[in-house]
Amino acid sequence: MTRQIVSVVGGKDAAGEDTYTSVNPARLGEVVARVGLAGADTFAGACRTAGDAQREWAKVPAPVRGRVVASIGRLVEANAESLAALVTEEIGKPYAEALGEVREIVDTCDFFLGEGRRLYGQTVPSEMPDKNLFTFRNPVGVVAVITAGNFPVAVPSWYLVPALLCGNAVVWKPAEYAAASAHAMYRLFAAAGLPDGVLNVVFADGSQTFAGLEKALGEGTLHKIGFTGSSEVGRKIGELAGRHLQSPCLELGGKNPMVIMPDADLDLAVEGALFSGFGTAGQRCTSLGTVIVHESVHRDFTDRFARALDAARVGDPREDVLAGPLLDRKFADRFEEFLTWIQPHHRVVSGPTGRITADNPRGGFTGDGGLYYHPVVVDGVRPDDRIFLEETFGPIVGVTTFTGMSEAIELANRPGYGLSSSIYTTDPKHAFAFREGVSAGMVSINNSTSGAEAHLPFGGNGKSGNGSRQSGMWVLDQFTRWQSMNWDHSGRLQKAQMDVAEITPDLGFRL
Ligand code: UN1
Repeated sequence: MTRQIVSVVGGKDAAGEDTYTSVNPARLGEVVARVGLAGADTFAGACRTAGDAQREWAKVPAPVRGRVVASIGRLVEANAESLAALVTEEIGKPYAEALGEVREIVDTCDFFLGEGRRLYGQTVPSEMPDKNLFTFRNPVGVVAVITAGNFPVAVPSWYLVPALLCGNAVVWKPAEYAAASAHAMYRLFAAAGLPDGVLNVVFADGSQTFAGLEKALGEGTLHKIGFTGSSEVGRKIGELAGRHLQSPCLELGGKNPMVIMPDADLDLAVEGALFSGFGTAGQRCTSLGTVIVHESVHRDFTDRFARALDAARVGDPREDVLAGPLLDRKFADRFEEFLTWIQPHHRVVSGPTGRITADNPRGGFTGDGGLYYHPVVVDGVRPDDRIFLEETFGPIVGVTTFTGMSEAIELANRPGYGLSSSIYTTDPKHAFAFREGVSAGMVSINNSTSGAEAHLPFGGNGKSGNGSRQSGMWVLDQFTRWQSMNWDHSGRLQKAQMDVAEITPDLGFRL
């Protein structure tokens, strides 16, 4: 029987106004779930409900909230296979990667369960006697989390887990095409004992969500927005939040460069480029955009890369494949548009392009009626090409050349994103020069542009975000506000900067 799912607000199902059908992108005839889509009022109502629940949740001692996070981790671990299988069914992510994605939730819980017993504030010396200074982390209040469907459970956990741990309540708006995975994740969180209303899930389309955000911000019931998605939508959310004097946590697109130096281990670089470019069918925000390869190894690298890609398997994501289908029709349509950016001066070194069908097969694979596309490597990309400058979410990688290190860095930064980056080199001087010069928030040395670990700061600069960082201790600054307190127990008014003891130095003293 087809799953029927609706939003859950305050622990209760909230009827939808419209229906969205989430299908399996590997076999488009299979319906994964029928999803009731809510309107802006439901979204704004969820923020009010969350506000009531948050006041009580914030009173629960942080170590006890940490135990709830521990339980979420254990529940996710115990349900790992079924959650990963659902992710594979709904968005076509190869099962091994889907299991890795689920693991990332557990890792995030493992990190933050201990934070419940830290969430440190400071005691700070005062400039006056009989006075003490302190800092506290306070929850921000109600957090709206809006996430993409390429990481339908791991990336949401990066927001949900620390936000809840810090004593906030959350209204989560997942991508419609990943709604069943999100609903399953919601149920695991609820089973850990979160009180009703502390976590709410609202399924809604983009325009209703935006209207809901606007309404809730206007009503003063929403205090922070976390958004993972395109730079274009991120800009709109940033503008809206800015009008309400809020700074959202924005995790946006990337055009992630991989520089290959003449001293690189080329086999390693090819392996890294293959996974960075075509793992998750190139649909990670951290996926490889352009290989920037030294002209002396360009031909050698490109030949090896094309051969490795040719030998790689694209197909049923339940099997051992490099790439499955694209996430959803919307992404397939956009990918077809990106393919039109290939120009006569480019050289496609990977074979056929476009959708994999009986008429356009990849070896013996005819596409099973799914949203499968030929992976593409485009050589001869120039710095003014659209394909060089803009994110091309999907299985396409550009290749360009350079002659000197400063040119490589300039090319790496040119598109104006700044999420992830990579360099292959055996010379530490090159590695450090690249780290210093590249504008990306994340740098890999001899490793994929993708695959960040769950406890390092994750986030970008430029068109990739507004400088906010997720994960590890750094994300705490997104979900708490510092409060400073001074306590004077001298029994008199001691005025800062004025009633301060002075010790007179002899500044004229010389040896
Ligand atoms: C994303 O695509 O939004 O670093 C996040 C990585 C993954 C997360 C990607 N851990 O590739």
